[in-house]
Amino acid sequence: MSQHILTAVAWPYANGPRHIGHVSGFGVPSDIFSRYQRMAGNKVLMVSGTDEHGTPIQVQADKEGVTARELADRYNRVIAEDLTGLGLSYDLFTRTTTRNHYAVTQEIFKGLHDNGYIFPKTTMGAISPSTGRTLPDRYIEGTCPLCGYDGARGDQCDNCGNQLDPIQLVNPVSRINGETPVFVETEHFMLDLPAFAEVLGTYLRSKQGEWRPNVLKFALNLLGDLKPRAISRDLDWGVPIPLDGWSDQANKRLYVWFDAVIGYLSASIEWARRSGDPDAWRQWWQNPDARGYYFMGKDNIVFHAEIWPAMLFGYNGQGDKGGRPGALGALDVPSEVVSSEFLTMEGRKFSSSRQVVIYVRDFLARYDADALRYYIAVAGPENQDTDFTWQEFVNRNNGELVAAWGNLVNRSISMAAKNFGAIPEAGDLSDADRALLERSRGAFAPVGAELGRSRFKNAITEAFDVVRDANRYLAEQEPWKLKGDPERQKSILHVALQVVDDAKTMLTPFLPGSSNKVHAMLGGEGVWSGMPEIHEVDEDGGAAYPVITGDYDGAARWEHRPIKPGTPLAPPVPLFKKLDPKVVDEELARLEG
Ligand code: MF3
Ligand code: ZN
Repeated sequence: MSQHILTAVAWPYANGPRHIGHVSGFGVPSDIFSRYQRMAGNKVLMVSGTDEHGTPIQVQADKEGVTARELADRYNRVIAEDLTGLGLSYDLFTRTTTRNHYAVTQEIFKGLHDNGYIFPKTTMGAISPSTGRTLPDRYIEGTCPLCGYDGARGDQCDNCGNQLDPIQLVNPVSRINGETPVFVETEHFMLDLPAFAEVLGTYLRSKQGEWRPNVLKFALNLLGDLKPRAISRDLDWGVPIPLDGWSDQANKRLYVWFDAVIGYLSASIEWARRSGDPDAWRQWWQNPDARGYYFMGKDNIVFHAEIWPAMLFGYNGQGDKGGRPGALGALDVPSEVVSSEFLTMEGRKFSSSRQVVIYVRDFLARYDADALRYYIAVAGPENQDTDFTWQEFVNRNNGELVAAWGNLVNRSISMAAKNFGAIPEAGDLSDADRALLERSRGAFAPVGAELGRSRFKNAITEAFDVVRDANRYLAEQEPWKLKGDPERQKSILHVALQVVDDAKTMLTPFLPGSSNKVHAMLGGEGVWSGMPEIHEVDEDGGAAYPVITGDYDGAARWEHRPIKPGTPLAPPVPLFKKLDPKVVDEELARLEG
């Protein structure tokens, strides 16, 4: 049965180019998942965009000496290019500064407000005396009043783990410029999280056994300490608060996280409008049979497993205070929050300022997208923090992609092309032939099951086991020695090519670019697995901006397809680049300049 699947991918801040740490957590895994789901016959809507409001953007804009809008324009484009280069198949990758996003965000705010889940409160806010701007909690540092640790942040102490208010810090200073903040009274809107304790508890407990255990455990833990949370800021860059007396205040805006999570919905609505059926988004958001999968790094769990579901429950009128659905109608909460752990770089945290970084575009200038996608799938931070090393990258590229998969493709196709010029017919099959064919065909179900549950490491390992078995089969059958027995040679090469075709299908979600090449080498026609494109769009004549979109209805299906004897074969081109081991030292020298 075909299902509607929403793939909701975390929105990168438009404050710099993406590095491989970013894309290993949210980008590549969500694309593997979406490509698999499409191949399995489901209707996928994969959305995201750049997160362009709030302090992270303002701080970087100040550093680069441009306005927040200029910065957002710059990096929205750079990031769209980074993600397209990796082959990430967004149905729509947009941005949070569209009129559509403002309107949808304000609608959700109003719905929550009408249902009584948002209330105003006077608080003490920190201000930078030199700029007059608010200092967000995590940009303030000082000594922890509870344990005495002197690197505590305004929102929490990493030493004792306690949540803090910036005003509690002893000797608070701004992390931006070192000055001492002043605290002034300011009025803000709060989201009444305690009113969702019960509905959130029921929701999260129903996910036991389904979500990754670490994600669920983290989310359940948050329930013990639900407090009202400020959803506005003293800032001039963001979505205005849609209430009389507030919307025209130049220095009150919605908190960036409040608007960012709404992006999943606004992007779906924008996609529907651009596709010509403005109500099409409802099939993914108001459909008991639809499923919504949210991909992100672990620092985002609180916003996706707690705050976003609470916002949706409140909009639907499903918290302690009741209420009724807003104008859009009741909206579905996430089916699964698929969070990954962190990637480190040669044993250290990624840091652009300390040059412990490798940007996606620099990577793609020197290596293939599939080489990185493979590394992330097989050795990425799926269940635990993991370390990227150049040595491991080169080893896996040369040992697994080139020597195992590339070599299988290359020697089977070139031998068949040279001797027969076409896919040969099989004669009588031996036990070994049959065993390998069954083994390969039988892998679709287990590999697909792992992919459907976002167990990408298991999935690619099992798919590669088929490749390894096929190489072993060729080593045992030695078709190159059978010049005098062309009938047997044909059978062996037929079997090998069938397994190459199966493996190319199973590897498509991970390695779409090289699977497309194998498809063509085997005489396949048309598009196998579609690739993303950047289009320039606007909103009714407003400023143009780039979006990622694409036509992903290629021929690829998650199934074994019998190859057709007689299909002409040309000598193959190498599938992957073998890397010189010197690359390791060159890349290490680049780190830290
Ligand atoms: N911009 C945030 C980050 O990089 C992620 C936002 S995810 C969203 O951590 F859904 F809220 F947009
Ligand atoms: Zn402390």
